[in-house]
Amino acid sequence: GTTLGASAAEKGRYFGTAVAAYKLSDATYVGILNREFTMVTPENEMKWDATEPTQGQFTYSSADRIVSHAQANGMRVRGHALAWHSQQPGWAQNLSGAALRQAMVNHITQVATHYQGKIYAWDVVNEAYADSGGGRRDSNLQRTGDDWIEVAFRTARAADPGAKLCYNDYNTDNWTWAKTQGVYNMVKDFKARGVPIDCVGFQSHFNSGSPYPSNYRTTLQNFADLGVDVQITELDIEGSGSTQATTYGNVVRDCLAVARCTGITVWGIRDSDSWRASGTPLLFDAGGNKKPAYTAVLTELNAG
Ligand code: G3I
Repeated sequence: GTTLGASAAEKGRYFGTAVAAYKLSDATYVGILNREFTMVTPENEMKWDATEPTQGQFTYSSADRIVSHAQANGMRVRGHALAWHSQQPGWAQNLSGAALRQAMVNHITQVATHYQGKIYAWDVVNEAYADSGGGRRDSNLQRTGDDWIEVAFRTARAADPGAKLCYNDYNTDNWTWAKTQGVYNMVKDFKARGVPIDCVGFQSHFNSGSPYPSNYRTTLQNFADLGVDVQITELDIEGSGSTQATTYGNVVRDCLAVARCTGITVWGIRDSDSWRASGTPLLFDAGGNKKPAYTAVLTELNAG
């Protein structure tokens, strides 16, 4: 193939990007998006603060723009994210206990129902594990009870039975890290008890503090062996030039080596679209030109 999406498709995978609704009027941005990508993740537009700014009043206009654009251009959509400790509206931040649990369930039901049949996979729960120690992150949701995650998954399944339901997190790439083991044990437990989980997303924001690990493929394979699909969901890699390109190529090769690694999403199109205030972590430069990292990804997608 000559594009990321077409090349990934030849390997039975998708290649996606995070998309911001307000950039859909940027011709350079949309040109690259439509040419290269087959999956989109709304970068902020489906989050709790965006979709339910006032309790019980749902606003979908920005997210709908992205979904419509995707559908009109033959791309699929990853929903992001139904339940998360961050980017909650102020009213939810001020809730606790049964009221918060009820609000979470209602939020998941409403949003997943609105998009029913239009979502390839939902990040049902995002970033619920602590950065160290292997346990849960403290949050208002966690304080509603340890079962909040499985309740979120069962609620999402009931609302949109056709969507794959994923757990998504960062710093779960290195097999030896306690956080990775914590998430692994949760997924193993969910599979054993019949909690509806279909996939695990590895954000893979690689930088000097959490670099691409040499055991990445092992991590992806070990999770897949639990009976879930795995996806690389928010890929970006600190650096530039051939070093960055090599790491991008390694990530792609690892995904292709794992049968249940169904796709890769980068967290933005151009370096200037990145959530990182500085740095050049993506595949296109600020002018929309292909970087060495792009070429490395395309080459690996077409290898073998
Ligand atoms: O929309 C408001 C705007 O009204 C306001 O004037 C402006 C002033 O700061 O802020 C705007 O909101 C910003 C929002 O992005 C939309 O641009 C927030 O401040 C800013 O914090 C928010 O950042 C997002 C971040 O999640 C928030 O946690 C990034 O764009 C987004 O890339 C990032 O994505 C996360 C994933 O969801 C989860 N994994 C990590 C990843 C990177 O942090």
